[in-house]
Amino acid sequence: MTAENNSNDVRPAPSGLEGVIFGPSSITFLDGHRGCMFYRGYNILDLAEKATYEEVVHLLWEGSLPGREKLAAFTKPLVAQRALPPEVIRFLKELPKKSHPMEVLRTAVSLLSHFDPDAADSSPEALRRKAERLTAKTSTLVAAWDRIRNGKEPIAPDPSLSHAANFLYMLKGEKPSVIDVQALDAYMTLLADHDLNASTFAACVVTSTLSDLHSAVTAAVGALKGPLHGGANEKAMEMFLEIGDPSKAEAYIEKALAEKKKIMGFGHRVYKVEDPRSVPLKAIARRLGEDRKELRWFEIAVKVEAAVYKRKTVKTNVDFYSAPLLYLLGIPIDLFTPLFAVARVAGWCAHVVEQLEHNRLIRPRTDYMGPTDRTFAPIDQRG
Ligand SMILES: CC(C)(COP(=O)(O)OP(=O)(O)OC[C@H]1O[C@@H](n2cnc3c(N)ncnc32)[C@H](O)[C@@H]1OP(=O)(O)O)[C@@H](O)C(=O)NCCC(=O)NCCS
Repeated sequence: MTAENNSNDVRPAPSGLEGVIFGPSSITFLDGHRGCMFYRGYNILDLAEKATYEEVVHLLWEGSLPGREKLAAFTKPLVAQRALPPEVIRFLKELPKKSHPMEVLRTAVSLLSHFDPDAADSSPEALRRKAERLTAKTSTLVAAWDRIRNGKEPIAPDPSLSHAANFLYMLKGEKPSVIDVQALDAYMTLLADHDLNASTFAACVVTSTLSDLHSAVTAAVGALKGPLHGGANEKAMEMFLEIGDPSKAEAYIEKALAEKKKIMGFGHRVYKVEDPRSVPLKAIARRLGEDRKELRWFEIAVKVEAAVYKRKTVKTNVDFYSAPLLYLLGIPIDLFTPLFAVARVAGWCAHVVEQLEHNRLIRPRTDYMGPTDRTFAPIDQRG
C-alpha cells in the first residue's frame, strides 16, 4: 500500500496554507491587491487618525464605534484591571534578567490564568472579563518586566491615563508628551487586529479544542515571537543600526540581496502592494524624527525602502516603519515585539470569541509521503 492510496479523500492545501479561507469572520477585512484594510467596515487609516485605541477595542469586541458614554463604561474595567497580581510580580523578579521580553510575556500570560477567577469559564460573560484583564495586564507586564530587569521597581498604573499613555508612563516613570501618546496610540490602533495572521490562527487552533483564553493567547504570543511574524520589527531596527548612516543603505541592501538574505520588514503573504499600515507608520516615524531633530533612522529606512524597491517587487510591511517609530519613542528594541502583542491582544480575544460562536475542532491532515508497508523486525535483528 502506498501513501497515495492511503490518503482517501484528502486533498493537499497550498504550501503555508496560502490563499486558504479558514472560515467566516466579520472582524477585519484585508484587500491584498488594493492594499487596504478595515476593522468592522471602517478603514484603518481613518481609525488611526481619528479614533483612540480604546475606541478601536470597543469596535473589535462590540462591532460598533462607541459614543462618549458607552466608551466611558467600556474603558472602566480596562483601566481597573491594569494592576498585576503581586504573585506575578514576585515571579517576574525570579526570572533571569537576560530573558527576552517575549519569552517573559509568553510565560507571564500563562501565569496570569492561575490568578484569574474566570480562568476555566468560557461563557461569553467570563470571556469578556478575561479579555479585559488580558488586554489591560499585557501592557503592565511588558512595562514591569523592563523595570525589573533593569533593577527597578515596577511603576503602578495611572488610572487617569489612556492605555497608550499609561504604557509609556509605566515604562519610563514620567508622563509622556502628547505627540508620543498620539504616535503610540495610532501604532496600537493599526496593529490591533489583522485577519487570520499566524498568531491569531494559533489562538483559533487552541480555542477550537475548547481550551481556555489564556492558553489561546499564550500560543498566540509564542507565534508572534518569530521573525517571520512580529519579531521582524526588532530585526528591522537592528538592520538600521548596523547600516548606521543613510549613505550606506544602498550598498548594504545590494550586498544583502546578493547573498539571498531576506530584508526584514518587507514582503507579505496577503499584500501584493504596500501594506496599508506602512503609510501612516512612515508619516508618524517622520513626525517623531522631526520632533526630536533626529531624522537619521527615518532617512535610513527611506533609503533602504528605495534600494529594495529598485531590485525586488516586495513592499514594506507593518514592521518596517514601526521600527524607527518605536525606537524614537525610546522603546528598547527587544520590547518592540512585546508591544506588538500589547496592541494585538485585543484582536486575538475578538477572534477567540468569534471562533467559539461557530466552533468546530481544527484538525487538518498532513500530506503523508512516507512508506506504509514496512515489516517490523525485533530489535536484535536490526542493523
Ligand atoms: C512575510 C513573509 C514571511 C511572507 O512569506 P511568503 O508569503 O511565504 O513569501 P515568500 O517568502 O515565499 O516570498 C516570495 C518571494 O518574495 C521574496 N521575498 C519575500 N520577502 C522578502 C524579503 N523580506 N526580502 C527579500 N525578498 C523577499 C522571496 O525571496 C520570494 O522570492 P522568489 O520567489 O524569487 O524566491 C516574507 O515576506 C518574509 O520573510 N518577510 C521578512 C519578515 C517580515 O518582515 N515579516 C513580517 C511580516 S508582517
